[in-house]
Amino acid sequence: MNPQTGLSLDQAPPILVPFRFFLSAPLFALLAALLALWFGPSLLDSRWQPPVLALTHLMTLGFLGMAMVGAMMQMLPVLAGSPVARPVGVARAVHGLLIPGVLLLAGGFLLGMPLPVRLAMALLGTGFMIFIVAAGLSLWRAPSGNPSMIGMRFAVAGLSVTVVLGLVLASNTGWAWWLTRWVQVTNLHATWGLLGWVGPLVIGVSYQVVPMFQLTPAYPKSMTRWLSGMLFLLLLLVSATFLLPEGRVQEPATRVVALLIVAAFAAFALVTLRLQLRRRRKQSDVTLLFWRFGMACLLLALVLGLAGQAMPAWAGAPRADFMMAFLFIAGFAVSVVNGMLYKIVPFLIWFHLQSLLIGVVRVPNMKVIMPEPGMRRQMWLHFAAVPTLALSALWPPLIYPAALLFGTSMILLEVNLLSAFRIYQQNAKLATKGS
Ligand code: HEM
Repeated sequence: MNPQTGLSLDQAPPILVPFRFFLSAPLFALLAALLALWFGPSLLDSRWQPPVLALTHLMTLGFLGMAMVGAMMQMLPVLAGSPVARPVGVARAVHGLLIPGVLLLAGGFLLGMPLPVRLAMALLGTGFMIFIVAAGLSLWRAPSGNPSMIGMRFAVAGLSVTVVLGLVLASNTGWAWWLTRWVQVTNLHATWGLLGWVGPLVIGVSYQVVPMFQLTPAYPKSMTRWLSGMLFLLLLLVSATFLLPEGRVQEPATRVVALLIVAAFAAFALVTLRLQLRRRRKQSDVTLLFWRFGMACLLLALVLGLAGQAMPAWAGAPRADFMMAFLFIAGFAVSVVNGMLYKIVPFLIWFHLQSLLIGVVRVPNMKVIMPEPGMRRQMWLHFAAVPTLALSALWPPLIYPAALLFGTSMILLEVNLLSAFRIYQQNAKLATKGS
């Protein structure tokens, strides 16, 4: 391990381990945009429609799941010096199971057919089980003091709860409608997925990558030590309130815990924005801008969540859920992941080429691997897509320009990632010829 950076780069897995996930992720988001274009404003009539459920999972499992699983396979060995055992086999199996699993789940929702949902359950259940066991073992062995590792442990636990609840819900769709409180179970599943898996992973990874890539001071120790655990505890409390009989006790109890969860995420967003203001290099780059935009969207989503707590009329307003979901998923989570891909991908290509090309030819630098103008074009499209999407919750015809902007931005993201990967392949060929 390098004592200055705290990284164990010698433990990095082969490049295809994370890249197979990174290169697949934008294609799912593109499918989601195409679905939105196809169904148009009627999508916003209700969150329970089959195309909405399909779209949600193309984004949460397809885009975010792929990118986050890929990032964890890369980061566990490098940040913790604790590699996932047999990374190539695990990556192949997990990727090979999740891809058809997500497509079948989305297809099953869309067509209203039980068989694809049943197949999806087997594929997604097995794929996630392999990932959770492999990542869990690596996290178990990792040194316990690393704050990113603490965040990742809680995130993997959150993912496990989400997957179990998802499978329970899917069994309801795939066989008989046996669940009586399926609305509450869906809300619990969505809460664990977004606030127990996506949120804590972003938080855990930020502790390491924000100071390292954006040259900011470190996150406060009190935050890195307590926040993820506290969030996990609060989510357990939310789940416990779900067991209380509906009515006088359940409602205020859920409200108090929800307020605490909002406060925890708001603290993270505000501290991140403050640290970024105190960064050493004053120029802004694409990753920084994506990250700031993501934090602003997270804060807006939290304000809407608070408004729902304070004014039940707003929470009950048609499409309030949509605005919050667009801001959280597309505005916060996709932006942060997108920004991070623009740091990790050129760095990994540069790093792998360096070991291959030493003494053969000069290693291309990171600005050549991932040129700034291409990243900026894609970033501006994304920055235009998110507010348009959020506003489509108020005026549904805006879903058309929003989906067009979002879809185009995802095509550009795929093009940028593929062009960088092609540079790797071309140079790797040179190395084999030169050796
Ligand atoms: C094995 C993986 C998963 C399966 C089988 C699954 C299954 C389901 C099912 C069947 C529903 C619909 C419930 C109903 O209407 O009866 C649902 C809803 C939902 N799921 Fe998943 N899910 C999985 C993973 C995830 C993950 C990882 C996330 C988030 C990161 C997520 C986020 C959501 C959300 C937000 C909803 C609510 C959608 C809405 O209100 O329109 N799911 N899931």
